[in-house]
Amino acid sequence: MLAPLLAPSILASDHANLAAGARLVGSLGLQWLHVDIMDGHFVPNLTFGPQTVAALRKHSALFFDVHLMLDEPHRFVEPFAQAGANLISIHAEPAYDHAATLARIRALGCQCGLVLNPGTPAAAAEPFLSSVDLVLVMTVQPGFGGQTFRHDMLPKIAQLGRWRSERGLGFRLEVDGGVDLATGPACRAAGADTFVIGTAFFGAPDPAAVARAIATW
Ligand code: DX5
Ligand code: ZN
Repeated sequence: MLAPLLAPSILASDHANLAAGARLVGSLGLQWLHVDIMDGHFVPNLTFGPQTVAALRKHSALFFDVHLMLDEPHRFVEPFAQAGANLISIHAEPAYDHAATLARIRALGCQCGLVLNPGTPAAAAEPFLSSVDLVLVMTVQPGFGGQTFRHDMLPKIAQLGRWRSERGLGFRLEVDGGVDLATGPACRAAGADTFVIGTAFFGAPDPAAVARAIATW
């Protein structure tokens, strides 16, 4: 199993000082930064655009794990790749050419991921498992930080983990939403290796202690 990897979600940091949030993550020796992009249609909220990601890139060498919560992600993969994304994840739910968009992300020099909302079964990801670097299982309905973790997502994580080992695949298995020191270990036990944490990292009195704890999972 891959070592546990913490991807703090910049959504939960001070939006007037995103560079400081990224600096904190880097100062703890962490590698990844999760960046949530919302379009106000696929999810009922708005966050950042490519310009923000490009500006943050000037302040940070972290691996930008960019989560596109967009109805039309295929229209935006190029601007986000140019802005400095390292990995771009797209959702399974909207209607567009998923395979072509994943291939386009790769062609742009980024890693690619597929995301499943809580209501979307593991089977929706199955055709793509050999062509993605990451599968992200949403453990809340996306749109907002600070929501309650959904334990009913654990069997889906386990199913994806089983397919990964049975088929000798190497994609990362990421969880996002309500993950903290209490809920993360169950995700780890189910097979997750990559943990998006917003509120429980940036809102913690001691984010360094959170990072140390996750390293032991
Ligand atoms: C939710 C976002 C998450 C969010 C997680 O729509 O995709 O990445 O930042 O935040 P917490 O950890 O606070 O649930
Ligand atoms: Zn996210």
